[in-house]
Amino acid sequence: MAQLEARNGLAGLRVLLGVSGGIAAYKACELVRRLREAGAEVRVVLTENAARFVTPLTFQALSGQPVRSGLWDEAAEAAMGHLELAHWAQHIVIAPASADLVARLAHGFADDLLTTLCLASTAPLAIAPAMNLRMWAHAATQANVATLRGRGAAFLGPGEGRMAEAESGLGRLLEPHQIVAELAALRGPKALTGKRVLVSAGPTYEDIDPVRFIGNRSSGRMGFAVAQAAMEQGASVELVAGPVHLQTPAGVARVDVRSARDMREAVLARAQHSDIYIGAAAVGDFRPHEVAAHKLKKTGGALTLSLNENPDILAAVAALKQRPYVVGFAAETQNIEGYARAKLERKKLDLIAANKVGEGEGFDACQNEILLISRDGAERLARADKLALARQLVERIAEKYADWESSNGNRKDTGRARSKARAPRRTRMRGK
Ligand code: C5P
Repeated sequence: MAQLEARNGLAGLRVLLGVSGGIAAYKACELVRRLREAGAEVRVVLTENAARFVTPLTFQALSGQPVRSGLWDEAAEAAMGHLELAHWAQHIVIAPASADLVARLAHGFADDLLTTLCLASTAPLAIAPAMNLRMWAHAATQANVATLRGRGAAFLGPGEGRMAEAESGLGRLLEPHQIVAELAALRGPKALTGKRVLVSAGPTYEDIDPVRFIGNRSSGRMGFAVAQAAMEQGASVELVAGPVHLQTPAGVARVDVRSARDMREAVLARAQHSDIYIGAAAVGDFRPHEVAAHKLKKTGGALTLSLNENPDILAAVAALKQRPYVVGFAAETQNIEGYARAKLERKKLDLIAANKVGEGEGFDACQNEILLISRDGAERLARADKLALARQLVERIAEKYADWESSNGNRKDTGRARSKARAPRRTRMRGK
C-alpha cells in the first residue's frame, strides 16, 4: 500500500478541493474519500451554491477538516486565513466546476473564497467540469476553457454520458476514481523529461491566386492536443502549425506555416535535433503548378488547374540519416488497419495512429478514437476527447520511444547503424 501511494504521487499531497454548485456536487463526497485513500490531505472549500446541494458538515466528516465557504467567516479566518490556505495547497482541484465558475476563473474574479484562493495560489489547477452539454459546447465556455488551459490549468474531462436532465452528451463530471487517476497522472513522473518533441498540426493551404487556395478541413485540434500532452510529460515541444484558429498550449514553441513546402522546410530544419517527430498535420497532397500573380477572372467556361504532388514530409523525416523516432497519422474512411499498416511500411515509420474520418468523426470532431499500429502489433485507444486521447497516445509513444532508443543506442549514432539494428524487426514483420 505504501509503495502504491509512493508511486501514485498523491501520498502526502495537500489538495484543496473546490466544489461548485450543481447536482454533481454529491460526487465530490466520494472524491474526498478516494483522494484520502490515495494518501492526500484534503481541505474542502464550497461555493455558496455548492452548500445548497451538499452540506458543509458532510464534507467536514469526510475530510476530517473544517470546511470553508465564505470569505468573511471570522472564526475560520482566525484558524487559517485564506491566504494561508492558498499557500497551503499543493494542488487545487475543482470538482465539479460549473460553467459559471469556469467563466469567473477565466476572467480572474475574486468575489468569493474559492475564486480568491485560485487567484492567490501558485499551486497547479485541475478543473473537472460538469454542466449541460450545450453549456459545455457554447463558444463562451470553450473560450474560457482555452484561456484557462493557456494559463496551464488542466481539464479533467468532462466525460460523455447521461446527464441529470435525461440528456446524453459531453459535460458529465468524470467519476471520482477517474479524477484521482488523472490527478495522479498529472503529479506522476514525467515520461519525456529532457526530450525534444516536434509536432506538426493542422491543414496546409496551397495558393491558387492571391485570394484563393486549396485547403482541407483539419482543425489542428489533435496535433495541438498531442503537443500539450507531450509538454505535460516534460518534453520541450516545438509545434509547426498550418493555418488554424487555436491557442498555443502553454509552454509550447509554435512556428506558423501555410503551405506543405513551408511546413516541410520548418520540420526538416528541426527534425534532426528532435528525439521524436509526430506528424499530425493533414498535409495537402497537391499544389497548383503555378500561383497566379493576380486574381483569376471568370471566362464563362471551365477553369483547368494543373496540380503538382507535394513532397511527403513524414517520409522525408523517416529517411534522414540521423532521424528521430517517427510517428505518423492515418485518416481513413475504410480498411483502417490495412491502409495504415501499408503507410507505416511505405513511409518507414516507427508508429502510426490511425483513425476514421467522415460523418462527424476525425477532422472537425472533438472526440476521436485511435488504432495504434507498429511493426509489433496494434492497440486500440478508447474513444475520448482529443486531449484525453492525446495523453494516452503520448504515454504509448514515450514507452515505445524508450524501447526504440535502447535498442538503437544513442541517437547520435549514424543512420546506417540504426537501420541495421532495426532490420530484424522488419524480417519478423514479413513473416507474419
Ligand atoms: O499519405 P497520407 O497523407 O494519408 O499520410 C498521412 C500522414 O503522412 C500524416 O502523418 C501526415 O502528417 C503525413 N504526410 C506528410 N506529408 C505529406 C502527406 C502526408 O508528412 N505530403
